[in-house]
Amino acid sequence: MLMEFKNEALVNFSLPENKAAMEQALAQVATEKGKHYPLVIGGKKINTEANITSLNPSNFKEVIGTTARANVELAEQAVQNALEAFADWQYVSPKERARYLFKTAAVMRRKKFEFSAWMVEEAGKNWVEADADTAEAIDFLEYYGRQMLKYAAGMPVAPFVGEENECFYIPLGVGLIVPPWNFPLAILTGMTAAAIVAGNTVIMKPASTTPVIAAKLMELWEEVSLPPGVVNFLPGSGSAIGDYLVGHPKIRFINFTGSKEVGLHINQLAAKVAPGQKWIKRVIAEMGGKDAIIVDSEADIEDAANGIVTSAFGFQGQKCSACSRAIVVKDVYDELVAKVVAKTKALKLGPACDHTVNLGPVIDKNAYTKILEYIEIGKSEGRVVAGGSKGMETGYFIEPTVIADVDPKARIAQEEIFGPVVAIIKADNFDQAIDIANDTEYGLTGAVYSKNRVKLEKARREFHVGNLYLNRKCTGALVGVQPFGGFNMSGTDSKAGGADYLLLFMQAKSVAEKL
Ligand code: NAD
Ligand code: ALA
Repeated sequence: MLMEFKNEALVNFSLPENKAAMEQALAQVATEKGKHYPLVIGGKKINTEANITSLNPSNFKEVIGTTARANVELAEQAVQNALEAFADWQYVSPKERARYLFKTAAVMRRKKFEFSAWMVEEAGKNWVEADADTAEAIDFLEYYGRQMLKYAAGMPVAPFVGEENECFYIPLGVGLIVPPWNFPLAILTGMTAAAIVAGNTVIMKPASTTPVIAAKLMELWEEVSLPPGVVNFLPGSGSAIGDYLVGHPKIRFINFTGSKEVGLHINQLAAKVAPGQKWIKRVIAEMGGKDAIIVDSEADIEDAANGIVTSAFGFQGQKCSACSRAIVVKDVYDELVAKVVAKTKALKLGPACDHTVNLGPVIDKNAYTKILEYIEIGKSEGRVVAGGSKGMETGYFIEPTVIADVDPKARIAQEEIFGPVVAIIKADNFDQAIDIANDTEYGLTGAVYSKNRVKLEKARREFHVGNLYLNRKCTGALVGVQPFGGFNMSGTDSKAGGADYLLLFMQAKSVAEKL
């Protein structure tokens, strides 16, 4: 009998046995660095002339691995293989499909430290962040498997005399999975698992900065004997094969998570009907954020400062949910800024494999350059009160940076930086703080620190974000507990990890038979 869903417990690295297990996993990963991973299309391994090279952001002289790089011909091959596999997979029972997810979760759990170690090395996550990513991936598998079993019962319909009526869910077809690099295991696993458990077949095109972790997930799908062609592994550049696949007449849906720019581009391209296309493509697009934490005059300031620092600098601020604006009511502004500065200055920056570091590197050279440019812009838009410089130059290290006295309309208060930078904005009162918080094009996460119930209720109603947190940090949504997705330019509010998510990958068929 299947146990009830429960979130995967996080690893306590202060226990010697867990620390030793992680050290051993890192040592194991070290022996595998530099390996090559092929494309997997219809179960066949395919190498290409051109490759993608994945570097360690903590030490960019080190190659984590290489993967093959697909071109348009191989992308076409992947579509054809996914179509072939769909012919059978769509009729595999939901129970059997769910079992593949449960088995994958079980194997991933056994290899938990290894997966986390790959993320430490390839994505620059510190141990705790990497472990949370692996735990979330396991959660998605366990959760979506159980959700599919519920959907197998179909949609309830009313009885009608003289007829047998039913309404059941069927899959859509072949989907394209386009994940970001920042939750290289969890988001990729969740986006793919949801689509396949619903009966679709997919092309899994990983982000080019974290293709090795994606290859490890592909190995896992193979290890649990997922039928060939149900998941096709297709690393390749977004511009080279992305547009081709998004515009392909046989692609039925695109499950995208990433930046606003790419998400809007995909949405527009997918809306065009290609010759031979028989459907309106479904686009799920989860995009960026400019998330705010509001600190009210009646807040616990110590708690609020902790929440801001954790939300702003966890994984170097490279979370769509990260706090990039702290909006502070003037009465407590100086006290809050002082606490945030002290806590930020106490953070340790260094290579992600060092278990004592709080912040590792940012993901790559593009991110590094862009974030440093924003810090320069910030110097003219506010007062740098912590950080403001790059770190050691052996990797893409940037100091956690706090910029105070920022105008709500400033660029660093409006544009997604996606790095360890938080802008602090002063508000006259709580109502104005809510107005400032809502005044961006995004609407992903937000938090409010206040002890005043009337103000908390106002935030509940009027703070327009997909994930609102009261008196806690604005990162770390849990699968099944806080369904995740944003409003406005943050995306289609798909609510990943929520009970409705699988519906996005299915269509309902109503059948009436006269008795
Ligand atoms: P990105 O938009 O640069 O890339 C995302 C994916 O799109 C990558 O796999 C990339 O290869 C692919 N891609 C690029 N061009 C494409 C094209 N023309 N066709 C098809 N695919 C294409 O984003 P990123 O840098 O990987 O991730 C960071 C962004 O993701 C941030 O904006 C962050 O806020 C957002 N994000 C959002 C969520 C969420 O749930 N809302 C979660 C994580 C990250
Ligand atoms: N789901 C991730 C979080 O909540 C992005 O932080």
